[in-house]
Amino acid sequence: MKEAAQTNDIVKISASNPVRTDCEFSRIVVRPVSIKGKACFQAEMFKGAQAFHQNIPPEELSDWIASYVQGVYKQTLFVMTDREVTYLTSSKGKVTRLEKPAAHEAVRDGNDRQKKYILNVGKPVPALADLGVFTQDGKVVAGMYDKFKQINRFVEILDDVFKSHTGKLTVLDFGCSKSYLTFVVYYYLTELRHIDAQIIGYDVKKDVVANCNALAAKYGYRNLRFEAADVSKDKLSDEHIDAVISLHACDTATDYALHYAVRHNVKYIFSVPCCQHEVNNSISAGQGDLDVLLRYGIVKERVSALLTDAIRAMTLEDEGYKVDVMEFVDLAHSPKNIMLRCVKTGKTSRKNAAAIRSLLEKYGFHQTLFELLNK
Ligand SMILES: C[S@@+](CC[C@H](N)C(=O)[O-])C[C@H]1O[C@@H](n2cnc3c(N)ncnc32)[C@H](O)[C@@H]1O
Repeated sequence: MKEAAQTNDIVKISASNPVRTDCEFSRIVVRPVSIKGKACFQAEMFKGAQAFHQNIPPEELSDWIASYVQGVYKQTLFVMTDREVTYLTSSKGKVTRLEKPAAHEAVRDGNDRQKKYILNVGKPVPALADLGVFTQDGKVVAGMYDKFKQINRFVEILDDVFKSHTGKLTVLDFGCSKSYLTFVVYYYLTELRHIDAQIIGYDVKKDVVANCNALAAKYGYRNLRFEAADVSKDKLSDEHIDAVISLHACDTATDYALHYAVRHNVKYIFSVPCCQHEVNNSISAGQGDLDVLLRYGIVKERVSALLTDAIRAMTLEDEGYKVDVMEFVDLAHSPKNIMLRCVKTGKTSRKNAAAIRSLLEKYGFHQTLFELLNK
């Protein structure tokens, strides 16, 4: 049991059913919390209708468990991020250890369906408390629930691809901003999946980049760094890159992320575009069947956004990617909820280019990704 308490991915420990008559508490629950930005554990100890609390520094948890839990309760459950370990203690002191894969703590979503998340409420990602997504005790901050849903879903989609990854993995995040996603992806890859991962986040805002670097340093995330760069024109990494991610990188910043991926033979792209102004600002009616969709401002804006993403997807297909265009969260959690999930197959073609070019010429609009790749 001491050994289980030394692992660094504990989500919850609960002990119940005392085997000893001198036991003061009927039940104990221990959870990881963050107090004044410092990670520690909090034990909630139940006596009758009362609950008592004690904070335990991580380095003392193992001894604390040995003193207050081991041999005291019939059943002690350790929930880790990837497994659950149960210790059953008989009245004669015989201990049986059982282990099974984790059934992650369930969180109810708005539709009252049970959801399983990779990131769990009650187990805060340390940097996300600094960034204001989690409270110090691991609850999602009111007003940040949509962001929590987005980053959680993003990581789930990454997990489908990377859960069994071995070896190094280098990821670029375009338009990282405050870097909620970047920190979570780094935490997920390195701490939950134990992958030798490196991430570079790019954003044009120097002050934001400086804050993110300071936060990465605070948590000793030595393979996570941020660079101030305008991704449309500055020199970016020329290392081998395995995956490009972007979550709501503004307007054509998404195109430059996709363009980088194509030009650098990046195998995986996970991109959720945002504010597709380019087509909306340059498309003109009066030329054909699409005119009915361009008459009303709001309809034109939405059609332009969808047209942009359809052209991006078709262009990536021509460049040898298998592309899934998918809703990555419910619309209620973000109106910008389409993800392009792409895997390089290497089967290039020009089957979509002619149709796209014809649309561009007919309606007079610009689409950066297509134009960069089809000069
Ligand atoms: C909505 S924020 C992204 C949010 C962030 N990815 C997240 O997950 O919370 C868009 C960011 O893209 C950045 N951006 C826009 N154009 C850029 C460019 N050309 N180069 C680098 N960053 C850019 C902006 O500075 C902004 O911080």
